[in-house]
Amino acid sequence: MTLINNDIRSAASFLKNGELVAIPTETVYGMGANAFNPDAVKSIFAVKNRPFYDPLIIHTDSMDKIDQWGMFIPEILKPLTQKFWPGPLTVLMEKSWMISDVVTAGLPRVAVRIPNHALTLEMLSLCDFPIAAPSANPFGYVSPTTADHVKKHFDGKISMILDGGPCQIGIESTIVGVENGEVVVYRLGGIAIEEIEMEVGEVVIQTSSSKPEAPGMLMKHYAPAKKVTAIESQEELNAIDKKGCAFILFDLNVDDVPEDDIIYLSKASSHDEAAQNFYNALRAWDDKDSIQSLIVQRMPDFGLGRAINDRLRRAVS
Ligand code: TXA
Ligand code: MG
Repeated sequence: MTLINNDIRSAASFLKNGELVAIPTETVYGMGANAFNPDAVKSIFAVKNRPFYDPLIIHTDSMDKIDQWGMFIPEILKPLTQKFWPGPLTVLMEKSWMISDVVTAGLPRVAVRIPNHALTLEMLSLCDFPIAAPSANPFGYVSPTTADHVKKHFDGKISMILDGGPCQIGIESTIVGVENGEVVVYRLGGIAIEEIEMEVGEVVIQTSSSKPEAPGMLMKHYAPAKKVTAIESQEELNAIDKKGCAFILFDLNVDDVPEDDIIYLSKASSHDEAAQNFYNALRAWDDKDSIQSLIVQRMPDFGLGRAINDRLRRAVS
């Protein structure tokens, strides 16, 4: 049986015992395990059907703990952690001996994040170990932004879902690291590139990789079960054969389909609100039988629109 509630003491105690607990964060729900317990970490891979070559992000509530565990934030990234932690920023830092190769997939760096979610921060404060947590979805599928999304795939398979309500950011963290003295962004996410560059100047964006070492960067990922087509303009939308289609739109119009088959990501044209609703919208159409295929509008390519477009590209491919 999977408990679903907001009891942080139970959650911390399951984690301490090596069991799996899904945890809310401001980005997406994570599938959490005690990162100091390699068997617990392995069970994340098993339940998600995730290949072992895909490394995990570890989560904690304080910089002091990160320090104590022998991990150090690269100097040129400190303006970012100072500004954005707790928050949707993940930092690659040199791996400590305390972190097992199962967590990092044998890579020399470990990904670390202090999430910004009140309930989870409180829960993490009870843990004297980091929590390894990839997004709590079956590998390759759309990430979860509610406890219900997690329940759909993992009910009965994990000890607990810590229910912290819907995720406020709705898209995964931005991943940064350093190469040759330059700041590199490896995954577009909840903190826009413009905001990162305000702190550290121009960055290198390296978000696609054919190497299997970071499947979050692989072309096919974040994909719903149904066919997804991305469109950009009103002309493109008008020209599409709309039979069996549902729509996820930002600011385009479609009049010749039932209103029930259209989701607007943000009536106020806010990129932040669009990110918050994006995964929920993809999942909603996957769950509706009368729909065969999804037509999704590409966002204007700035702010969180850029991260949404990145996920959309991978969902389509
Ligand atoms: O917002 C988020 O980051 C969420 C919440 C739960 O914190 N987590 C998340 O984890 O999105 P996941 O596993 O779905 O994505 C982690 C990605 C990997 O696929 C990889 O691209 C990158 O982070 N990554 C993790 N550790 C790495 C490492 N040591 N070196 C390079 N890339 C790494
Ligand atoms: Mg993921």
